Amino acid sequence: MPARGASPDDELIDIFSKGWKEAQTGVRTHVAEWNTGWNCEKLRTTWKSKSPRKRLIVLRKVSKGFPILSDGSLAQKVWCFFIGVSNFNHEQLERLLNKPNLRFKPITNQIECHPYLTQKDLIRFCQSRDVSMTAYRPLGGSSEGVDLLDDPVIQRVAQKYNKSPAQILLRFQIQRNVIVIPKSVTPKRILENIQVFDFELSEQDMNDILGLDRNFRMCRLPIAEHHKDYPFNIDY
Ligand SMILES: NC(=O)c1ccc[n+]([C@@H]2O[C@H](COP(=O)([O-])OP(=O)(O)OC[C@H]3O[C@@H](n4cnc5c(N)ncnc54)[C@H](OP(=O)(O)O)[C@@H]3O)[C@@H](O)[C@H]2O)c1
Repeated sequence: MPARGASPDDELIDIFSKGWKEAQTGVRTHVAEWNTGWNCEKLRTTWKSKSPRKRLIVLRKVSKGFPILSDGSLAQKVWCFFIGVSNFNHEQLERLLNKPNLRFKPITNQIECHPYLTQKDLIRFCQSRDVSMTAYRPLGGSSEGVDLLDDPVIQRVAQKYNKSPAQILLRFQIQRNVIVIPKSVTPKRILENIQVFDFELSEQDMNDILGLDRNFRMCRLPIAEHHKDYPFNIDY
């Protein structure tokens, strides 16, 4: 065991420097459920070649697999209190929630969500099951050529409230009780993106923005589209 006064990280390192077997179980379970990117063999090699501290980083990278451990064994050992899933459709989430002896219920499902993909049904489903929603790509991202920020409706609403289009897109999610995670490397924009709590969109404006829905998905995860559990083959 680590010395008295050791940081939680040191304790984690201590556990996982011995713990490939458990980590492997977590990764494998994850792979068995739904997985698109992890290569167990590669991960095992990486694990063996790393120092304990680097192993901790590896483990954090595979942490997506933790919630799938229905008996909670690995999650308990890493002092995991909150777990989340991403890109789960409602059937996958239902399957997870219905697992016998599930000890760590996911608190959030992180999905692509913005006015062109409003995800009404999935949001309703998740919120009815007490799983919060987290909206990724809320501003339309940077590389797929979607000009969400230039959409005339968003522009009109932005002018009305004297806010930027990005602030309207973020406020839109907040008012739907959706957690929203914009990304920016620009300090001015980061500041702008948190200044979204001093105004409220009217019901009409919310409906106008919801009316932009066109079921347009940017992150289609093409690497996984032939996987049996590809999440985007059903409506929601
Ligand atoms: N779970 C998943 O499968 C998944 C998939 C995709 C993304 N995500 C996560 O979701 C988060 C955000 O998604 P994202 O980066 O794809 O898309 P996003 O936040 O919708 O868009 C990011 C783009 O918007 C720009 N931007 C940020 N704030 C702005 C503002 N106030 N005004 C104008 N432009 C602004 C950024 O530029 P600058 O950076 O140049 O300022 C960047 O080009 C990230 O943390 C990402 O890791 C998760």
